[in-house]
This record gives sequence, structure tokens and C-alpha cells, in this order.
Amino acid sequence: MRSPESMDADFDTVLHGGEVFVGQGLARCDIGIRAGRIAALAERIAGGRTRFDAAGRWVLPGGVDAHCHIDQPPNPGSAARGAQMADDFASGSRSAAFGGTTTILPFAPQFKGQSLRAAVAAYHARAEGRSHVDYGFHLIVSDPTQEVLAQELPALAAEGYTSVKIYLTYEALRLSDLQVLEVLDAARQCGTLTMVHAENLDCILWLTERLERQGRTAPRYHADSRPMLVEREATFRAVALAELAEAPLLIVHVSGREAIEVIAGARARGLPIVAETCPQYLFLGSEDLHAEDGAKCMCSPPPRARENAPFVWRGLQSGALSLVSSDHAPYRFDESGKLKYGPKASFRFIANGIPGLETRLPLLFSEGVMAGRLTLAEFVELCCTAPARLYGLLPRKGQIAVGADADLALWDPQRRTVIDNALLHHNVDYTPYAGMAVTGWPTHVWLRGELVCADGELRGRPGQGRFLRRGRHGIPLRAAP
Ligand code: URP
Ligand code: ZN
Ligand code: ZN
Repeated sequence: MRSPESMDADFDTVLHGGEVFVGQGLARCDIGIRAGRIAALAERIAGGRTRFDAAGRWVLPGGVDAHCHIDQPPNPGSAARGAQMADDFASGSRSAAFGGTTTILPFAPQFKGQSLRAAVAAYHARAEGRSHVDYGFHLIVSDPTQEVLAQELPALAAEGYTSVKIYLTYEALRLSDLQVLEVLDAARQCGTLTMVHAENLDCILWLTERLERQGRTAPRYHADSRPMLVEREATFRAVALAELAEAPLLIVHVSGREAIEVIAGARARGLPIVAETCPQYLFLGSEDLHAEDGAKCMCSPPPRARENAPFVWRGLQSGALSLVSSDHAPYRFDESGKLKYGPKASFRFIANGIPGLETRLPLLFSEGVMAGRLTLAEFVELCCTAPARLYGLLPRKGQIAVGADADLALWDPQRRTVIDNALLHHNVDYTPYAGMAVTGWPTHVWLRGELVCADGELRGRPGQGRFLRRGRHGIPLRAAP
């Protein structure tokens, strides 16, 4: 940070008097913004066409939510086919912004028989002109043909689509081990990061059929149909396949201790394996599925028993887990979404996923930073900088530094909020975190220097968010042991 008494260069906006997260901690610092970027960081900055008083507040980088599902077309082969996501790009991104997130990475899904190019074009049409925050796309690869692997992946990587998600579960999406190896190899060659949903489909099908024969079809049995062992096995296998292919791998939505141990072991051996977890594995438990409306907490992997959460916190503290994303999957608790097949439908036919774009940062800030489980530097790393780095968005996103985009969230670190769906800005009719009291909430959010939200009011407009062409992933190929 420069420390002249004043800098009088002409700025569009100056945020002054705040405690700003620079380097590894907070410092009293002014921020000069010009043409959407941070142009100066200094003790005192004069001028500015707009001056904003940030005294008493913390200025943190805008969050990067690297795993969310928005307006994702339903897969015709899925058991819960027909369930519609409630958030389009306007409502999903609005909700992200009010929660302090300024970059989102949702998924363009490829259906069997479709080219990746067509999947990307169809998804752009959904996003175009609607987003309040910047966005990039991951690609979901469900049909890895030779054309996809040899032509489309490299061409799309060159255009900024540098991550693909593959699945070891869901009948319409699951790849064989051979296909996984082929994707890992092709992705490695073009600098694309493979993300994996690690649950063993055959184990899930076998357990589901047994539960259904026993008449155990209520939402609570969703957790019994995919226990930790099923995730542990798939995590172990995904790591082994990545090791064989000498490819980097990011394991998404890791839910608990046994999978974390597999990942920590792989990292200790120097493999380029990184892993993500989500708030539902810190704040929900399998017990929540027992409620009458337990479907509201149904996601895959499922929330584990409450005793599991301390292991997930430890995974974040130790570095076994590298980032926290929301895995926002917005289904309403009505016949358009969770209850598409009626209130008594078997868990097999209930759409998986829970909303969380807006609550991700406040929950982590409150129960992480304010409760003393994470340092502020760890919070920023897990929720902003690491996702930007891993997915090829540094230096523009995920940090407060000269030259970076002026994506900023002004936090009131003492603000007490009892989470209530009426406070949120998504289009889902519930939040699984209703009733939780949190300390700290972002009150103002800027995207590339423009105010998007201020004290609960929307100041931005749909279409303000731009598509991000991302660079190569940021996983070092020989991670330090
Ligand atoms: O249950 C979940 N996680 N739904 C979203 C889709 C996925 O696999 O991430
Ligand atoms: Zn998944
Ligand atoms: Zn997901």
C-alpha cells in the first residue's frame, strides 16, 4: 500500500476510512477506483467524483462462488426430471450480490448426444443480459465423445471455459472409469481443471432399491441411500484415476471426515488434488432430513450426522479443504421443484440441492471468523481468493489489489441477523438456515466499481454482470508434500 499523505489523481469513486483487507489482514486504507479497477490503495486519497465513507466497516473482496446452479435446464434422464430451478440469472445473481458475492461460476450442462458447443450456446442464452454479477461457466460433460475430448475441450479452453464437472453418480450423468480417465487426460492437456462429484452410483442404486422394498422412502432415507462409505469409495477412486492420468482434480462438495482423510492423504503424497466443501456440511445434519419438510435439506452428498461438522471445520483449518462454495441448487418446496412428484414421493424422485448463494458468506463469516474457527485471512482465502486462483480468475477477481477489478463488499462485522427467507433475494420459498443468528453481513457491494446493493436496496441492474473468459486453472502440478 502506498502511504503518501494524499493522492489527487482523478478517481471515479473513493472509499475512505474503512478497514481494508490487503495482503493478509485489515489495514486502515482508502481505495481509489478508476474505470472499474482498483487504481490506488493509500492511507489517504483525496478527490473522487463519488466519495463513500467506509468508517467502522470492513472492506473485503467480493466473494467468488465457484459452484452454483442457476437456471440449469433439467436433465431429461434424471429421476426428478421436470423439477425446475426457481432462480434465473437475474434472481440468482441478485441474491449472490446481496450476500457479498460478485463472481459466480454456474454450470452449462451437456446432455447425451449434444455437443459441448451447443450446451454452451444454450446456457449463454439463459444468462445473456440478466446477471447482476460477473459470471463464468463450468461445463458438465456427460457424453465424452472423441469430438468432445479432442476438438471441443481444447477449443473451449482457449475461449475461457477452463473447467469441467464429471459425475460418478446419477444415471443420466455417471461416467465409467474409462471415460473418467479419458476426460482427465484430455482436460490436463488443455489446462482445463476436472471437477468430480464423487459418489458411487451402483452402491446408491442397490441401497435405494433395498430401502424402497422396506417402504423406507421418506426424505430421511436419502441419507441412508448414500452413506459416507459411498462417498469415500468414489473419492478414493477419483483420486486414483487422477493419479494414473497425472491430472489435477478438484473434488466438489466434500461432506465429511472419511473423504477428507482420503484427500489429505493424497495431498500429503504431493498429488495435485484439491477439494471444496459447502455450508450444508458445516451447518446442517442428517437429522434435518427427519423433519416433515426434510426434503428442504436434501442434497447430494447428504448432510452427515452433527458430529461430522467439526471434522469439516478441521479440514478447512488444516488446508485439506481449499475452498467453500454454496452449491446453490434452487428448488422451491412446491410442485415446481421439490414436490414435483407429490408430498409422498420416494426420496429418489425429489430434486437434490438446496439454496445458499446469499447465506454462504454470512454463515462462514459468523461461525468461522467471529466464532474464532477461522482467521479473517482464511475466510478470504477460502471464499474469495482460492476460488479465483483455482479457476483462472486471478489477478482480476478474489483480492483487493491495485489492478484488480473493484469488486468489493463492505461488511458491518457486528450486525446481528436472524436468517429468515423474507430477508433473502433468491426466488426460492425457503432457506434451510432459517432461524440461525449470525454476526456480520455485507451492507454495500460494488461490482467493478459500480454500487450493486446498498443497505438492503438493489442499485444494480440485470445485465451489469459480464461473462468472464477464464485462464488456465491454478493448481500447481507438483503440489508440495
Ligand atoms: O444435491 C446437489 N448437490 N445438487 C446439485 C447438483 C450437484 O451434484 O452438485
Ligand atoms: Zn455434484
Ligand atoms: Zn452442484
